[in-house]
Amino acid sequence: MMRAITSVDIHPLFAERRSPRAFNAATSIPTTDLIAILEAARWAPSSSNTQPWRFLVGLRGDEVFNGILQTLVSFNQGWAFRASALILVTGVNRRPDGAVNAGYQYDCGLSVAQLTLEAHSRGYAAHQMGGFDKAKAVEIFELSEELTPVITIAIGKEGSIDQLDEDMAAREKTPRIRKELSEIVLRGLPN
Ligand SMILES: Cc1cc2nc3c(=O)[nH]c(=O)nc-3n(C[C@H](O)[C@H](O)[C@H](O)COP(=O)(O)O)c2cc1C
Repeated sequence: MMRAITSVDIHPLFAERRSPRAFNAATSIPTTDLIAILEAARWAPSSSNTQPWRFLVGLRGDEVFNGILQTLVSFNQGWAFRASALILVTGVNRRPDGAVNAGYQYDCGLSVAQLTLEAHSRGYAAHQMGGFDKAKAVEIFELSEELTPVITIAIGKEGSIDQLDEDMAAREKTPRIRKELSEIVLRGLPN
């Protein structure tokens, strides 16, 4: 398990979570785990509790999975086809009163963060992908105007990196890096 190098100890969920591209195409996600992953997303906080996230969930081989796969840019298709599940997250872009919901992307991000960590805690990797064609997603899934595609997510068990091409395999071995705390905390970083 590659653990992030942190200035002080943090919860292993954060230190150990990562976004791998080597998935095991022989495994599937049992229903209980899949529901738990979605349930964690459901319980995210959101502005005025509007809960603007809407999920389209595909399991490898089914219509939704193949639909999401088709929307991915070819780099992502090249590895995500081995995932056990592909999820398309869409956001309700209007508030119940019809006004523009300026914060729906933020809320969707919170929900996906929870989904990702629940997946990790259950031994799955969840890898978010912004590299997909949103217009194509609208077309394939006949999404109504109030739904905007936000992100796609590949979920599955990690597999052997030998199945990846050289470039992708190299990326898998690269340690996770982050900006220093001093770069991101503009004021108030304790000494
Ligand atoms: C909004 C978003 C979009 C991303 N899009 C892609 C993508 O299209 N393809 C990909 O391989 N990884 C994608 N990633 C994964 C990031 O590259 C990854 O989270 C980042 O490099 C940090 O690595 P870590 O998650 O392993 O800590 C995306 C992540 C996020 C949060």
